[in-house]
Amino acid sequence: MLDALKTKKKLWFAAALLCVSQHAYSDASPQGLENSGGLLTTTETGELSFTMPYAALTAKLGKKFIKGHEQFNELWVLAPAPGIWGLGPTFNEANCAGCHPNNSRARPVADGATVENGSVIKLGYRRLDGVVLPSHPWYGDQLQNRAAENRVPIEGGATVTYEVSIFEYPDKTTVALKRPLIDIRNLNFGDINDATLTSMRIAPQVIGLGLLEWVPDASLLNIVAEQKEGGLSGRPNYVIDLETEDVVIGRFGWKASQPNLKQQTASAFHSDIGATTFFFSEKNCPEVQTLSLIHI
Ligand code: HEC
Repeated sequence: MLDALKTKKKLWFAAALLCVSQHAYSDASPQGLENSGGLLTTTETGELSFTMPYAALTAKLGKKFIKGHEQFNELWVLAPAPGIWGLGPTFNEANCAGCHPNNSRARPVADGATVENGSVIKLGYRRLDGVVLPSHPWYGDQLQNRAAENRVPIEGGATVTYEVSIFEYPDKTTVALKRPLIDIRNLNFGDINDATLTSMRIAPQVIGLGLLEWVPDASLLNIVAEQKEGGLSGRPNYVIDLETEDVVIGRFGWKASQPNLKQQTASAFHSDIGATTFFFSEKNCPEVQTLSLIHI
């Protein structure tokens, strides 16, 4: 029963997030690659190409695909506004597509611009004993730059400038490397100090992830073994599956910190949109924020 359920869920997410594994190729593509994804190849070449479903989806899976697509685009609202409730109290965007437009990667933040529209600032905290926590005691794991208007203040905002340095390879080829310098401002719950760690992240494209979820653990472990033979040291990141409480291989998100698309999605709902789920049932509002605010 559990297996059947798991398979069903996997299919759901595969259908919801699966589009094309290969970007459609134009006539200018290298020869032989025109149909390299087989039935997964789409002839769509415009900005919607990452939103195309697998051409051979069954009617049932097609419906699930459409449902997933709708939910990905759904603009969540603050109760009691008409619509689907769940947004906030603090958040970064009101829908998934707000950061992953048409299932694609967000645009990088321009030099000197505000961090928004698909880029976020993750926060960590170094305790006095040196231990690094994956979350700031007052601001949580991500700086939320938007909030329920007239009800709670935003946590704060950030702008970024880039420091460029030139890196030279042994063959004298050079590349320009850009290091983001993050300037956090307009903080509403107290200043942050040097113990705060910041990291800017950009929303990646989300095509084909259902297929990646289907790759068996054994295949990943084989790659690790092969890499070892080749003198490389890639290794799986083991994380907790919150549903089963098992320690499993991480697959999605930064440094593969989430075990499956379901948990990754629940985490996005919580950190990016502010919506709770049975995975993350507490409001995304560290205690210091709830204590200093009127109830919402
Ligand atoms: C505020 C912007 C934002 C919103 C809204 C958002 N995401 Fe993301 N998403 C990101 C960023 C940034 C990352 C990569 C950072 C990381 O993993 O730490 C990411 C990563 C992901 C990944 C992992 C991709 C991979 O290759 O491992 C998936 C899947 C994903 N998001 C799905 C969703 C879904 C589903 C929603 C809606 C419930 C959503 N996202 C809403 C910004 C956003």
